[in-house]
Amino acid sequence: MPFRPKDTFKSNADSESTKERKRIHHNVQASSYWLPNDDIEQDRLNEMYFALKHLYSGQLLPKVKEILDFNSNLKVLDLGCATGAWILETSVEYPNCDYYGVDISSNFPALSPNNTHFMLHNVIDGLPFVDSYFDYVRLGHWTSNLKEVEWPPFLKEVYRVMKPGALMLNLEIDTMNHTLDATGSLTALYMVNKINKMYPDLVSVLPGLLKNAGFTTILTDKRSVNFGQDDHNNIRFVSLATNIIQKLGYLIGPALGMSAEEYIASTPKLIQKAKDNHAEWTYVAFLSQKPKKK
Ligand SMILES: C[S@@+](CC[C@H](N)C(=O)[O-])C[C@H]1O[C@@H](n2cnc3c(N)ncnc32)[C@H](O)[C@@H]1O
Repeated sequence: MPFRPKDTFKSNADSESTKERKRIHHNVQASSYWLPNDDIEQDRLNEMYFALKHLYSGQLLPKVKEILDFNSNLKVLDLGCATGAWILETSVEYPNCDYYGVDISSNFPALSPNNTHFMLHNVIDGLPFVDSYFDYVRLGHWTSNLKEVEWPPFLKEVYRVMKPGALMLNLEIDTMNHTLDATGSLTALYMVNKINKMYPDLVSVLPGLLKNAGFTTILTDKRSVNFGQDDHNNIRFVSLATNIIQKLGYLIGPALGMSAEEYIASTPKLIQKAKDNHAEWTYVAFLSQKPKKK
């Protein structure tokens, strides 16, 4: 099982703080994914989905829409889809496509449109799809999902299920921005991934991994959120950072060598420091393509 600092914490920041609360994690022995999969975590992931939608001005990068016609019947795959937020919204905006969401935990919607399909599946066991099926594959925040050795066979599988000319988007946070990481969350992410034999700086190695798997990277899009700037979306990210400290503090505190309670209690101070230091989070989107047949 993956390393996890303590599973329980007491917090004054949470509405359920008066009693000790146990967080819930998946129980798939073969997977090292170490973040929780309970309702609190799904709320956090939904909040992150909306913040990123704003940062990227919508569901799809302009380059994706330039190459693929989402008004036609594309086959779309969201790996590690969590609550299915991206699929649900995209399937309304582009109803002619078929959407498949795969995740190791089933936090899928109970009701969803006919053109959406959700599957409980561990991608380490391969992908349950025929060759050359998908036109677009999306992977959001995979930095804590796979061990280093699991990446090459996984990318080979993704490549297999994509049509020639199909696109894949990898969206990741840059964990190397340590000096500006006033809240400590990136440092903790880096450290826990390293202990779990995952790439602690996935953003630096992804281009090489993609190339080795046969993909051609056609766009690298970097966007930073500056905690010191008072614009609408940055405020949303400040709220997301506050949420991360409070909801994942039981992991981050111990990873930084302090108690969860101590770390969570310092939320206002950490956020103020992040604003004063103009701390940044940088997101990197890699858009790559399976080469077209010659
Ligand atoms: C950090 S969350 C990101 C969720 C969403 N993609 C996003 O961008 O917000 C990672 C997701 O990948 C899923 N996941 C982790 N390891 C997996 C595996 N081996 N197979 C399938 N899903 C996995 C987790 O359950 C979780 O929902």
